[in-house]
Amino acid sequence: MFQAILKKYAAFEALYGRFEGRHKALMLHRAFCEVCIEPSRLARMIDNHLPLDVRHHDIPVLRPAEAALDGFCIMHLSDLHLHKNNPAGITRLKDKVRSLSVDLTAATGDFGKGQGTEEDSDDLARDIASALDETTSRHGIHVSLGNHDHPSLGEAFRRVGIHCLESQAIKISHNNRHIILGGFHPAYTRKTPSPRICPLTGQEDLFGIMLCHYNGPYAQWTADHGYRLYLTGHTHGPQIARHYHRGMGDKDKLEGLWFCDEMAGFTTKGVGTSLYPFRLGNRAEVSLLTLRMARPGLVPT
Ligand SMILES: [Fe+2]
Repeated sequence: MFQAILKKYAAFEALYGRFEGRHKALMLHRAFCEVCIEPSRLARMIDNHLPLDVRHHDIPVLRPAEAALDGFCIMHLSDLHLHKNNPAGITRLKDKVRSLSVDLTAATGDFGKGQGTEEDSDDLARDIASALDETTSRHGIHVSLGNHDHPSLGEAFRRVGIHCLESQAIKISHNNRHIILGGFHPAYTRKTPSPRICPLTGQEDLFGIMLCHYNGPYAQWTADHGYRLYLTGHTHGPQIARHYHRGMGDKDKLEGLWFCDEMAGFTTKGVGTSLYPFRLGNRAEVSLLTLRMARPGLVPT
């Protein structure tokens, strides 16, 4: 087991670079948790019984010309952290969402446990598709990847009919309005999004929604490029309430609705857990986001 922990730690160093001092201790602790706690039967049992809420949130961001989008409903999922071969974990989510009818399903990464592997990607994609196959989603299921997802998961999602946005954007038409839906995956590169993600500056007839696992500088980049809504996760709410660390990004974007210039952002608390199979002072949720007209003075008319 000791060898397995060192191997996991070496994998972190290969991914992120060399650690020193406090960061070395933290990453060793993380490697220990990922090897000894996350895959355990006890962790799976606790995870499968964690309360999961479906919570409604109004997103007041629409301009008068965008009234056709008033009421547009997005099911926002993130940080599912599903265990392998765990039908009860799929059922936990499926039972909550099967009767929902939404305009769009958006998921912002961290679908599995640990760092994921290429061999597991197809099974994981099938599990996610199975959890969502009784939910009505008018414009489909679209996802971006997170730091716990293997890059091969994008292709695996496409094979089961889930659209993975990897530094790209697509157009959706809804009530004669066009929505640009973009997504990117900075987890492995820690870089700003690719210019391929359709900058929208000056295109007032397009409403841009971005999916990205992280908040922080990526949110500002997205706002600067004319997007109006930014969906994100990663913080887990935080999973241990009020426990903040730098890796969670901006302190004012840890959960719920926030604004970055004229762009609304939403950080969901997420569905699952990582490292520890519990949450303290913070319940897991499936977020149902409804676009609403902006409050006077919030965005320019
Ligand atoms: Fe996560």
